[in-house]
Amino acid sequence: MKEVFIIEYSDRLKSLPSQFFAALVKKVSAAIEEGRDVINLGQGNPDQPTPKHIVKALQDAAEDPKTHKYSAFRGIGELKRAANDFYKREYNVDIDPEKEVAILFGAKAGLVELPMAMMNEGELMLLPDPGYPDYLSGVGLAGVKYVSMPLLEENDFLPDYKQLTAEQKKNAKMMYLNYPNNPTGATADLSFFEKTVEVAKENDIAIVHDFAYGALGFDGKKPVSYLQAKDAKEHGIEMYTLSKTYNMAGWRVGFAVGNEKMIEAINLIQDHMYVSLFPAVQKAAATALMDDQTCVDELLALYEERRQALITECSRIGWDIKAPKGSFFAWLPVPNGFTSEGFADFLLEKADVAVAAGNGFGTHGEGYARVGLLVDKERIKEAISRIEKLEIF
Ligand SMILES: Cc1ncc(COP(=O)(O)O)c(C=O)c1O
Repeated sequence: MKEVFIIEYSDRLKSLPSQFFAALVKKVSAAIEEGRDVINLGQGNPDQPTPKHIVKALQDAAEDPKTHKYSAFRGIGELKRAANDFYKREYNVDIDPEKEVAILFGAKAGLVELPMAMMNEGELMLLPDPGYPDYLSGVGLAGVKYVSMPLLEENDFLPDYKQLTAEQKKNAKMMYLNYPNNPTGATADLSFFEKTVEVAKENDIAIVHDFAYGALGFDGKKPVSYLQAKDAKEHGIEMYTLSKTYNMAGWRVGFAVGNEKMIEAINLIQDHMYVSLFPAVQKAAATALMDDQTCVDELLALYEERRQALITECSRIGWDIKAPKGSFFAWLPVPNGFTSEGFADFLLEKADVAVAAGNGFGTHGEGYARVGLLVDKERIKEAISRIEKLEIF
């Protein structure tokens, strides 16, 4: 008998990208353990609680023994109908709640499942750079290839489809987009999505719009849904999450809406992986989508106030930054002479301020740092005052 039990991981697991930001979390935790007063602007975790009426809806639903059973495989009708009503109310988009909605354990789950459900090994995806790092988890698990679409400041952080070669466009099976954008804070208008649908039509590319920050558009400009573009549903889907709109990041609930075949692909893969979410969570999510939306207006006002504090303070110390148009992030150019990572390390070391180095979001993130508007405005002001003392501007 062999003495040592050798445990080997699959090539699939080994191919997953390393978590760039795990190192940041470690450094920040170590600094906090040393007793330092770190202002953490590096993460993307909403700091406000879930609105009380949604928590109450969960409590009430959890009291009902009917919610203790397995959920319907593909989620409860009440939540799918709520997703449908939400899209009609917010974006004037019609959705068939049975065929065009898939309930998700958060948008991240859907984004990681889709390449496995729709693509074969070696096929090509188009991904934004910089972009949400977890897109690469789906790429790794499905064994697909990808081409980066640079998001450049001179193009308002929108991809320039003219820069893709004819072959890339022909070979691409799926494209991910995300506006309001993490990490750049950029937004997209309807004409951009219409152009996207044209590219999708000409080249048979399935579009996936990650609308995680759909509720967060500044200066009175409501972010546009991809599904508002003409013929959008024929070529793609949108992922919506309750994590940001209702501060429900820990609840793990979201949904995908749009193209029936793509939705079916998600539902099929999920049929084999899970039995949908805890029904009480689904019921509370339906309440969030359908009840009074004052909490969303208040949340947006809070982020807007913090954003204003950041802009005013940065301008006061001579840091020339552009105001984000949406999301709860600002994308700040690092001062001359620094790399993104060098700058993030310097701020943590010398000012006890944590920011996310831009290169963690892709090679085109080099030269930037991402700052989250997820601490109160006094702490934002304090962070910039600490940076001022470093005399780098
Ligand atoms: C762009 C983007 N997409 C998706 C997600 C994941 O959202 P969820 O909590 O629904 O998994 C995030 C979370 O930070 C995000 O920033």
